[in-house]
Amino acid sequence: MSNNSKAYCVCFSIVAILILIIALVSSSLKKLASDEIGVKYDTINKDLGSSTEREGLHSGPPGYEFIVFPSVFRSLEFSLKCLNKDGVQIRLDVTYQYKVRAANLRTVIMNFRDFKGYKKVLTYAGEAALHESCSYFNTSQFQSQRAQFQEFVRTKITQRYDKLFADITDLQVSNIERPSQYESAIRSKERAREDIQVALNERPRLLTEAETEKREAETQAEIIKDKANSDARILQNKAKTEANGILIQYEREAESYKQILASGLNFTIEGFISYLGTRVIADAKNPVYIGLQSPAKSSYN
Ligand SMILES: *[C@@H]1O[C@H](CO)[C@@H](O)[C@H](O)[C@H]1NC(C)=O
Ligand SMILES: *[C@@H]1O[C@H](CO)[C@@H](O)[C@H](O)[C@H]1NC(C)=O
Repeated sequence: MSNNSKAYCVCFSIVAILILIIALVSSSLKKLASDEIGVKYDTINKDLGSSTEREGLHSGPPGYEFIVFPSVFRSLEFSLKCLNKDGVQIRLDVTYQYKVRAANLRTVIMNFRDFKGYKKVLTYAGEAALHESCSYFNTSQFQSQRAQFQEFVRTKITQRYDKLFADITDLQVSNIERPSQYESAIRSKERAREDIQVALNERPRLLTEAETEKREAETQAEIIKDKANSDARILQNKAKTEANGILIQYEREAESYKQILASGLNFTIEGFISYLGTRVIADAKNPVYIGLQSPAKSSYN
C-alpha cells in the first residue's frame, strides 16, 4: 500500500465516524413546539418515558421519538339529534374546548395510544353525555330552562372527561330545536287557545244580541196576533151586521108578501115570479142573468 492510499483510508474512516456521530446525536435530539407536550418513546426498545416533556429541545436514547399532544385547548363541535324525556326528537348544537391533563399524559398514552385515538374517545364520551343530558329534560323544560340544560350538559361532560383526564371550558349550547311538526302543533294550540278566548269574550255580546232579537220577534208576533184578532173581530162584526141586514130584509119581504096576499091582489104564478124577478134585478149590484121560461107562445100560432 502506498502512503497516499493509507492517508485516504484514514481520512475516509474519520469522515465515516463523524457522519455516524452526527447521525446519532441528531437522532437523539428532538424538539417540542410551544403548543405541544409529549412523552418520549424509545422505538427500538419499545419503552415509554415516565415524564411529560414541554416545549424545547430534548435528548434521549438514539432513535426515540415523542408522542405529541396539544398543550392548548382544542374545540369539539357537535350537531346531533337526541331524544328527550318525552321521547321527542331534539336537535342540539353544542361546542366546547378540551385539553388533556399534562400530569396524566403517560396514562392517557398507555390507554389511547396517541392523540388521534384519544380525541376519538373524547368525542364518543361527549356524545354520550349529550344524549344522557337530553333524556333528563322534557319538552317544556327545553323551552323554559335552557340555562339549566347547558349547566347540566357541562356537569355531565365534566364527569365523563374527569375519568379520561381531560378538562373542558367554554361550553356553549348554541341551538335547541324541536321538530317542526311539534312547533306547528304548539302554534296551532296557541291559536286555538286565543280563538277560545275571543269566543268567550264575544259570548256576552252575542247573547245580548240574540236576546234583543228574540224580544223584538216576540213583540212583532204580539203585534201580528193583535192585528189578526182585531181583523177577525171586524170581519165577524161585519158578517153579523150583514146577516142581520139580510134577515131584516127577508122579514120585510115576507111582510110585503103577506100584505100582497092579504090585499087580495090577484096574482097569477107568472105574475108573482115576474114581480120577484123585478125585485131581484132592482136590488142586484152585478148584472143578473135569468133563465125564465118564456110565456106560452100559442097566440103566435
Ligand atoms: C316537565 O317537567 C317539569 C318538571 O319536572 C314538570 O313540572 C312538567 O309538568 C313536565 N311537563 C310535561 C309536559 O311533562
Ligand atoms: C081571480 O081570478 C080568477 C081567474 O083568473 C077568478 O076566477 C077569481 O074570481 C078572481 N078573484 C078575485 C078576488 O078577483
